[in-house]
Amino acid sequence: MRGIGMSGTRNLTARPQPISALEPFFASNLIGYEGFTPQDEPFILHLGSGDSTIPVELAVRGNRRQLCVDFSSTAVKLMKERHAEYGIEWRLMDVRDMKGIDDASVDVAFDKGTLDAMIHGSPWSPPQEVRHNTSAYLREDGGRFLHVTFRQPHFMTPLLNPEGLWTMHRQVFGDNTDSFDYYGYLMRKLPIENTQNPETGGVTDAQGTYCGK
Ligand SMILES: C[S@@+](CC[C@H](N)C(=O)[O-])C[C@H]1O[C@@H](n2cnc3c(N)ncnc32)[C@H](O)[C@@H]1O
Repeated sequence: MRGIGMSGTRNLTARPQPISALEPFFASNLIGYEGFTPQDEPFILHLGSGDSTIPVELAVRGNRRQLCVDFSSTAVKLMKERHAEYGIEWRLMDVRDMKGIDDASVDVAFDKGTLDAMIHGSPWSPPQEVRHNTSAYLREDGGRFLHVTFRQPHFMTPLLNPEGLWTMHRQVFGDNTDSFDYYGYLMRKLPIENTQNPETGGVTDAQGTYCGK
């Protein structure tokens, strides 16, 4: 999880940090993408937002319509208190059962690390519970799903797209050091097109197959 731990102390008036390594991902898939800029006022749903500062960072960039959900009452209470001034809604909710969020009401759903937290067991053959949870979670029909994960694409693609209903475009992030790469996916429920992705600079094909950085 980014930032300080949930039990830590923090200056409530501190300004948010840059989105840093994810800035290009948000620039090409959200903030800078026509129809989804802050001026377009997309409704952004943060899935398992924890104590991430990304919602605040997006608010500072002009995104006013954001709902952050998490099943940790500690995280929700903390974030409500910590970031009351940004107009973001923080709500207690299990992402596997998103009652109160209408189908097709979300323009952009964002997950960093939440789906990862649901995965256990062998990555080669995940338990049925993992397949069930991830399929319950990936039910959004409209808009864009932005997913950031450290897991390798050959493990994630079958979980993210078991029925091949989504187009998947992947970006690879890393700092060219010995640290692990991580991956950002743009997913939409659209007909599969095996074309270079004009939005993200062509780092993936539509099946999510690795095509280089
Ligand atoms: C690894 S943390 C990532 C937090 C945040 N997205 C970030 O990037 O810092 C995973 C978060 O997902 C939340 N979470 C896990 N399973 C969840 C579920 N079924 N429903 C809602 N939140 C969940 C946890 O409470 C935790 O805050």
